[in-house]
Amino acid sequence: MSHHPSAISPESSRPIGVFDSGIGGLTVVAELRRVLPHERILYIGDTARVPYGGKSAETVTRYSREISDHLIAEGAKLIVVACNTASALSVPTLAPSIEVPLIGVLEPGASAAVKATKNKMIGVIGTKATIGSSAYKKAICTLDTEMTVSSVACPLLVPLIEEGLFEDDVTSVILQRYLDPMLAEGIDTLVLGCTHYPLLKRVIQRICGPSVTLVDSAENCALAVKELLASQTQNPDRTPASNLAAPRLDIVLTDSSEGFLRVAEKSLDLTIDSLSFRQIGK
Ligand code: DGL
Repeated sequence: MSHHPSAISPESSRPIGVFDSGIGGLTVVAELRRVLPHERILYIGDTARVPYGGKSAETVTRYSREISDHLIAEGAKLIVVACNTASALSVPTLAPSIEVPLIGVLEPGASAAVKATKNKMIGVIGTKATIGSSAYKKAICTLDTEMTVSSVACPLLVPLIEEGLFEDDVTSVILQRYLDPMLAEGIDTLVLGCTHYPLLKRVIQRICGPSVTLVDSAENCALAVKELLASQTQNPDRTPASNLAAPRLDIVLTDSSEGFLRVAEKSLDLTIDSLSFRQIGK
């Protein structure tokens, strides 16, 4: 892995680059803020091309590469793929050819689920593309071959969340429909395999009951980033780590989506230092 030229900004102030198809990845930003309060974060939400959840691996990989290149040009010291769909479909292809470390949300979520389950029955919910890729199932069963994984694609959830219907009856009815079969099978752990879903955590927990542990890919991804930065501090030859500059959150959207951004900002209790709009890709 080569070093990124430090001419863009002093190493200590280089941001962590984060991206998602839209606003959902802000759940990861909120967790990054919590575990790494001193870092600068540059977030790109590809609101012009959201949703990724029904698109092909080729398309999502092209989008992910364009955004990663953009983040690297902006000086990102590492990139967090705060989108399960892009993590499932693109990270394996992209990671080897990107000049800074690339962390997806999938592996941290899978390993947290394996640690959380007691009866080895794990449920996974995500977009059609994430579930269709079986990436969670593979990652979980690679860690422990005795795991039983039930997966359900939940394509209606992202639009409901983007509409801000977090505590709405419609959302509860649809969630119940998606979750009932897995609950009947006896899962004791449910992976929220889409970065939008933590915004529905309360209602999902209510439907699942207290005996089901929810695994939030946002939280576990943030912890993986913290570990990576800590390991790089111990190994100064690698891309640099801890930030000494003032913390900031700069957001770039590829199309206007400000309404939902403000809803997410409020419900995640985020402070956004700047918002701009930029075209990325064609
Ligand atoms: N936030 C994305 C994910 O984690 C889903 C949204 C989309 O379909 O683009 O998969």
